[in-house]
Amino acid sequence: MSKVTVVGAGNVGATAANVMALREIADEVVMIDIKEGVSEGKAMDMMQTANLLDMNTRINGVTNNYEATKDSDVVVITSGIPRKPGMTREELIGVNAGIVKQVTESVLAHSPNAVIVCVSNPMDTMTYLIHKVSGLPKNRIIGMGGALDSSRFKYFLSKALNANPNEIEGFVIGGHGDTTMIPMKRFATLRGIPVTNFLSAEELDKVAADTMVGGATLTKLLGTSAWYAPGAATAEVVEAVIHDQDAIIPCSALLEGEYGESDLCIGVPCVLGKGGIKKIIELDLNEEEKELFKKSAEAVHKTNAALPC
Ligand code: LAC
Repeated sequence: MSKVTVVGAGNVGATAANVMALREIADEVVMIDIKEGVSEGKAMDMMQTANLLDMNTRINGVTNNYEATKDSDVVVITSGIPRKPGMTREELIGVNAGIVKQVTESVLAHSPNAVIVCVSNPMDTMTYLIHKVSGLPKNRIIGMGGALDSSRFKYFLSKALNANPNEIEGFVIGGHGDTTMIPMKRFATLRGIPVTNFLSAEELDKVAADTMVGGATLTKLLGTSAWYAPGAATAEVVEAVIHDQDAIIPCSALLEGEYGESDLCIGVPCVLGKGGIKKIIELDLNEEEKELFKKSAEAVHKTNAALPC
């Protein structure tokens, strides 16, 4: 029996739970929220699709009852406030740090062996905070952002190439911030053919720029932050862990010398499987990429320095 808990039944948490249930990634998915009745209602609504969609996952919703999350294999933390139009993810730190700290303590009291997937923003800093407050082995804490940013990169590449997003490979490293993420243009391919064969440097730069502000663009359109791709990207990360896929997914991981950085969590390509991050893949970055990564790490360090603890 595999069990996943999603803390926070807002748009992102509920979408993640729904995708995990529809794809039958785990046998049981528990949603927990502080808002009375919201998790229960969303779980009931989703379970009423079980027969319609041939879904066999059991979804439970609870209000603040951590006992129900007991012995989860993976816990996803989406708690906190989302950004509003014009806000950066970094501006959420004051409110979200306190919430994420408290949630981490509560989930680990009931699932001491869980792998934790952090979704709350500012995501790299919240992932780092979970390391600090939990003291868990570093492989058991995964920040989700790179999975989402990479999917957005592939979407914008597909638009520029007029191609099916599923025929595109590509990934984003660095921080999950509008100015800190690094779409890896040099490694992107269409069916194995470098996209530089099809797109000019200017076109590729535009794809990278659109990717970087992908979240902000949606926040402006929607009036709050996005949820379909963030939810699905979260489910992708959880699936890799629960099914021990050894999938290479860019995630925010604690660095201890990799890429010349340490004492921060930032997006790097990771091998994900049972137990969480099995390996960090070190790429041979060129000078331009090295410089971008250094700047990105500096920005993440700066946000981390604003943590209240
Ligand atoms: C986004 C938020 C979830 O990028 O960080 O949409």
